[in-house]
Amino acid sequence: MNAEVRPRVAGRYGKVRWLVALPSFLVAAVMGGLYLVAMPLFPAIKEFYFAQQIHTYAVHQLPLLVHIGAGAVALMLGPLNLMSGLRRRVRRAHRRIGGVYAVAVAVSAVGGFFMAFHAYAGTLPAGRLIVTSGFCVLALAWLFTIAKAVWAITRARDVAAHRFWMIVNFSITFVAVTLRLENGVLLASGTFELLYPLLPWTSLIPNVIGGALFARRINQRRRGEARVAPRGAREKAARV
Ligand code: HEM
Repeated sequence: MNAEVRPRVAGRYGKVRWLVALPSFLVAAVMGGLYLVAMPLFPAIKEFYFAQQIHTYAVHQLPLLVHIGAGAVALMLGPLNLMSGLRRRVRRAHRRIGGVYAVAVAVSAVGGFFMAFHAYAGTLPAGRLIVTSGFCVLALAWLFTIAKAVWAITRARDVAAHRFWMIVNFSITFVAVTLRLENGVLLASGTFELLYPLLPWTSLIPNVIGGALFARRINQRRRGEARVAPRGAREKAARV
């Protein structure tokens, strides 16, 4: 291992990982708890929380709940696998968690794609087109990037490409967090009804750009480490 370089890289990005992990766990727990536990126990909550969709969600309960359950699993497991400590120490756990994460993304994305056609269109002109196209692109990008990440490691055995696509994929999973932050701003500013249809776009675009830049930077650093490390460590750095 290149002892001089790796701790500095881990230290710098360790904070970023926690900044991503904590809100992910929080949103997964709150949203999963709300729809899968609190609402079935106390249906009256539906009158107060997203009442505009009360009828739609009653009609499409199964795809919605499958989408939310699998999405919450993806939000919980994604950050675990991005922790470099676990990845290096318990490789088998990394593979198993990664497998469950990939299935959760695929299942949730199919549910999300279906729900895109029933999403809240608000009062914005062309709101239906904007919100449905936004959620459809989000679901397709989620599926495309997980397929690229899985292909890269299982078929091409390309660790750098796997790392790149997994980070970009998780930046899309993380839309569940940024969308709710932006939603909070709309609610606080009284613009929810008008601007809600824009949310899938305004959360997807910055997340994907940020994720892709971050992933590229990590890969550049790993390449730099591999260049200066002794041969054995170089091979190890290429593998993790
Ligand atoms: C990234 C891809 C995703 C897509 C394409 C997607 C799509 C959708 C769509 C179309 C709806 C209906 C929105 C409406 O009624 O206006 C929805 C609702 C919902 N989704 Fe997702 N979603 C994604 C990720 C996630 C994740 C990772 C979670 C994790 C918990 C999640 C949790 C929810 C919840 C709780 C709702 C109900 C509405 C609310 O209370 O905010 N979604 N999703």
